[in-house]
Parts: sequence; structure tokens; C-alpha cells
Amino acid sequence: MLIIASHNGTIGIRQAMAALKNGDSAMDAVEIGTRLVEADPSDHTVGCNGYPNILGELELDASIMDGRTLDSGAVAVMRGFPYAISVARQVLERKLPHVLLAGEGAERFAREIGAEERGEMLSDEIRQVWRARLATVGTAQDVDSRPDETALLDMVKFATDPERVAGTVNFIAIDSAGDICSGVSTSGWAWKYPGRIGDSPIIGAGNYADNRYGACACTGMGEMAIRAGTARSVVLYMRMGMALEEAAHTAMRDLRDLGGETIGDMNLIALDRHGAHIGLSSEVGRKYIYQTGDMLQHAEMERGLVDLPRRWGARR
Ligand code: GLY
Repeated sequence: MLIIASHNGTIGIRQAMAALKNGDSAMDAVEIGTRLVEADPSDHTVGCNGYPNILGELELDASIMDGRTLDSGAVAVMRGFPYAISVARQVLERKLPHVLLAGEGAERFAREIGAEERGEMLSDEIRQVWRARLATVGTAQDVDSRPDETALLDMVKFATDPERVAGTVNFIAIDSAGDICSGVSTSGWAWKYPGRIGDSPIIGAGNYADNRYGACACTGMGEMAIRAGTARSVVLYMRMGMALEEAAHTAMRDLRDLGGETIGDMNLIALDRHGAHIGLSSEVGRKYIYQTGDMLQHAEMERGLVDLPRRWGARR
């Protein structure tokens, strides 16, 4: 039994491991651990009280993948339901002939299955942070009085901030049967354009699990993981015969080939089917956590550093 998670999964890993020790599945453990992060109001990158989009609306993305069957469930741009990982799991479990539901469709589905709904997803403090940012790029009054008519294109370009485009939670578990599950949940970039979808709900970009090889999950600038297919790349490189470490480094180095003017940070955690694990980051000092079935508590691991030159908009 093993769980690895991004560092902000610290709040959830103990209960996730308790579930595995109780004989629950890897998918149960991933959902339990992720929900505890989604419920944490001090984490502004996941679940309730995350940073909202440019209009001040919280839009959540999440996905979960079953390494036994490659079955997956995902939701994107979902408003009003704090536990995005649980709704994503139900997309998989309810045997919809779909993998990813977005926007009003995801919300309708969440309501139909009785997912927990919340009227107010943001604290006053986060609303103030959003308002203060908005004031630097336009007028908050425009957004308040004419949200549907306000031109957002330039506001988003100037409001988004490389320090607030990362932040997401990853959990990957191997249960006592050797089955692997990976899950990812996020509120995405702060001050993003409404409807923006990151890598977290995109199977193959921010999340991938395959019992035969291993699994990978990402945090960081989702656009990059979408363009490079990062999580799937790690697993595919293992399928092609690379060991975990080489596979993970190769997928991170692939990101250097991305052109364009918006290149930020990327982080991944990954494991192979034997339980070897790794964390990599383009940022100095980043850590991830892990716990095996015989450990009383989790441990922290330094992530290996991969150089990715940041380019943040020539317009700035
Ligand atoms: N990695 C999360 C996002 O870009 O939305």
C-alpha cells in the first residue's frame, strides 16, 4: 500500500491511508484524501474558497482515473459544488457513456446525483483579494453592474499572475490488491477567463493511471501539461521501457519544447507499479509527501529540480 500526494495533500493523507489499511480501494483513498483538501478553506487553489475567475465566480475542475480499467471521470468549470473529486468519481461510477462533463451539464449532473451543494463558495477575505486585483486592471463596478458585457480579454491578460496560476492537489494510491488510482482537483488559475479549463480534468494531461505501468499527476500551469500530454507521457515512457525516473524527467524536459509567451512552472508526482515514486518540479524547494502501509505517518520528499525557463507574456 502506498499513497503519494502533492504537499497540500498533507491534510488528507492520514485518513486516506487509514482507508487503505481498512481494506478500502485506491479510489476510495484518493477521494477521501482529496475531499479533505477541497474542504480546507485555507487552501486557495482547491475546492471551496479557491481563487475565483475574473468575474469572481469559483469554477472547479477535477478528475479521477482507475488504473485497472482506465475508466475515468472528470468535471470542469463546475460551480456551486465544493467536492469536485466526488462528482468526477460519480461520472465514472454511474456508467455515463462519458468521461468529462463541463459547466451547466456538470452542475446538473451533480444536482441529479445529490452531490453536496453550497450557496457561498468564497469567504469575504477571498472576495476582497479578488476585488483588489480587479481594481488594478479595470473597474470592479463594471464587473458588478454589467458582468455579461464587460470586455474581459485584456483584463484577464493583465490580471493573471504567474504566482497564482499553480496550485492543485494530486493524490495517487496503490491499494492492497495492487490497484492504482490517481486523482486531481483544482480551482485553476486565479482570475482566469470564465470557462477556462486546465489540465486537472483532462485525462492524459494532468492525470493518468494504468495498473500495468504506474501513474502520474501534475500541478502547475495546466496549459503546458495539456499541450505536452504530460501525465500520459510519463506512463507511456514507462510502457516504452524507461524506468520511472527517466520517464518522469523526459516528460518534464518535453515541456522545454513548448513555444509561446506563457510558460510557467510545472510539477509532477509519479509512481511505478512496484511502488517506486518520484516528484519533480521546475521550482526550487518544492516537496511532495508519501506514506506506505507500514509507516505511522507520512514523510516529505524533496522534488527533483528540472529547469524550465519561465516566459510570462511579452506584453508585460
Ligand atoms: N494545474 C491546474 C490548472 O492549471 O488549472
